[in-house]
Amino acid sequence: AALAQAFIDEQVGQIQAQVGEKKVLLALSGGVDSSVVAALLIKAIGKQLVCVHVNHGLLRKGEPEQVVEVFRNQMDANLVYVDAVDRFLDKLAGVAEPEKKRKIIGAEFIRVFEEEARKLEGIEFLAQGTIYPDILESGPVKAHHNVGGLPEDLQFELVEPLKFLFKDEVRVVGKALGLPDGMVYRQPFPGPGLGVRCLGAITRDRLEAVRESDAILREEFAKNGLEGKVWQYFTIVPDFKSVGVRDDKRADEWPVIIRAVNTVDAMTATVEDVPFALLQHITQRITHEVKGVNRVCYDLTPKPTGTIEWE
Ligand code: XMP
Repeated sequence: AALAQAFIDEQVGQIQAQVGEKKVLLALSGGVDSSVVAALLIKAIGKQLVCVHVNHGLLRKGEPEQVVEVFRNQMDANLVYVDAVDRFLDKLAGVAEPEKKRKIIGAEFIRVFEEEARKLEGIEFLAQGTIYPDILESGPVKAHHNVGGLPEDLQFELVEPLKFLFKDEVRVVGKALGLPDGMVYRQPFPGPGLGVRCLGAITRDRLEAVRESDAILREEFAKNGLEGKVWQYFTIVPDFKSVGVRDDKRADEWPVIIRAVNTVDAMTATVEDVPFALLQHITQRITHEVKGVNRVCYDLTPKPTGTIEWE
């Protein structure tokens, strides 16, 4: 904690020296890295930081609301909230191929962010939540998206205060900056968000089924002491239905697949041994609380041969 404070003091000084009276732009997803960068810059330069939160409709339940609550209401940040839900879902309509979905989400994100950047005057810096492993990482297998690829006339000088920190160090700094635990200790979440957990062509109803079932899973894991123990846990909704019975009638509905894995580096992963009674309780809740879902399956596959995500 003392080291974190020393790091914060040093970075605050450096940021103030680098930026002066100028304005800094930040794409604030609400993930650990961008949240910690935001908190650090708010401490250093207050409202000279302009945070842009793009809600692409693929975030987990409660996430956009939490970004607004923490940064606008509690930290009094200069936050631009962009509701781009319809825009993203329209672009994604009918697109079933996973890598195509990722590309659309990444490209649209840059486009929305660029449009917001153009509306703002006098921005000279762009802050990014780059951390040390991002610098070390070589060619990813999937098209992971971060803010990048802005056009020539929108080139900014970069502010990257976390670029020599590892993830656990970023969390310690975030905690010292007063960010809530739910933000600092959250599990990894892919850039394309729930978009790659709503398999095939995304539809609004299935996307809601992913979001609601994920919220139930997270709530039950938190209640049962698994939140800080399991590395990544989430739900998936495939694009097919199966027959079931509801209120004595035949009901064709979707299954929800639960995935809960542990890993060190995400290259290999093992499946968490979730207590059977808890799985049954979660099944009961999901099949009764989530619209259009009549079955729950638990994915028992380690990586390899499965990947962590389903697409
Ligand atoms: P896989 O499915 O390849 O996932 O075993 C390994 C880790 O990477 C995350 N992941 C992504 N993260 N953009 C991201 O930022 C992506 O497109 C993406 N695809 C997978 C996944 O959640 C897991 O933690």
